[in-house]
Amino acid sequence: MSNSAKSIHPCRPNLEAPLNDVFKNIFARRSVRDYLPDSVPDHVIRELIAAGTYAPSAVNKQPWRFVVIKNRALMTELSQKAKELWMAKDTSAANPEIIKLANMVSRPGYDIFYNAPLLIMIFAHPDAFSPQIDCALAAENMMLAARSLGMGSCWIGLASPLGQVPSIMNELGVPDDCKLVGSLIFGLPANLNQKAPKRDEDVILNWID
Ligand SMILES: Cc1cc2nc3c(=O)[nH]c(=O)nc-3n(C[C@H](O)[C@H](O)[C@H](O)COP(=O)(O)O)c2cc1C
Repeated sequence: MSNSAKSIHPCRPNLEAPLNDVFKNIFARRSVRDYLPDSVPDHVIRELIAAGTYAPSAVNKQPWRFVVIKNRALMTELSQKAKELWMAKDTSAANPEIIKLANMVSRPGYDIFYNAPLLIMIFAHPDAFSPQIDCALAAENMMLAARSLGMGSCWIGLASPLGQVPSIMNELGVPDDCKLVGSLIFGLPANLNQKAPKRDEDVILNWID
């Protein structure tokens, strides 16, 4: 067993076999927080969304709906609004991780979207059977598809409070009954070889043959 193969993950079934492109892409995807300013062409955005729509969905409800935002000024405005919403939260009884987040967003120059050139917000329509799971599957498809094209991406959970503000949802053209599930940024990464945060290796609870 070679050390380089072992370092990927002990759960890999055949540590000597070369990785195929799908596996390579899965292992190479990273949450990117530093982007080049180049904008993402519209046809690529459509391909990312198409990849999202090929995710599985419970009872084949395909509940995902997308809002594409390429306008940097609007993204800055949304980042500022999300930061204000986080800072207004009562963190007196919050756990340390929430307090750390609140401190991070309160930094004046911090853009929750990391100045990325593209934001795609994913909403679930009201007829969804399992909206969060289905939309998260779509999101991962999109992030992997982006990586396969040499692009970076990141799920921005810090944008979630925006979904609670009807006036913002209105401004974005989102129907009242669609719920925000996730916000993804995309763009060309400043560094394509970002190191992966260490993965837990002791993840198998039980193995019953
Ligand atoms: C639901 C969810 C919310 C996240 N929210 C944020 C966020 O607001 N800001 C951020 O920089 N990263 C965010 N991330 C990215 C995680 O920090 C990242 O996936 C994790 O550190 C593992 O790194 P990797 O994606 O490069 O493997 C989020 C990821 C998920 C799945």
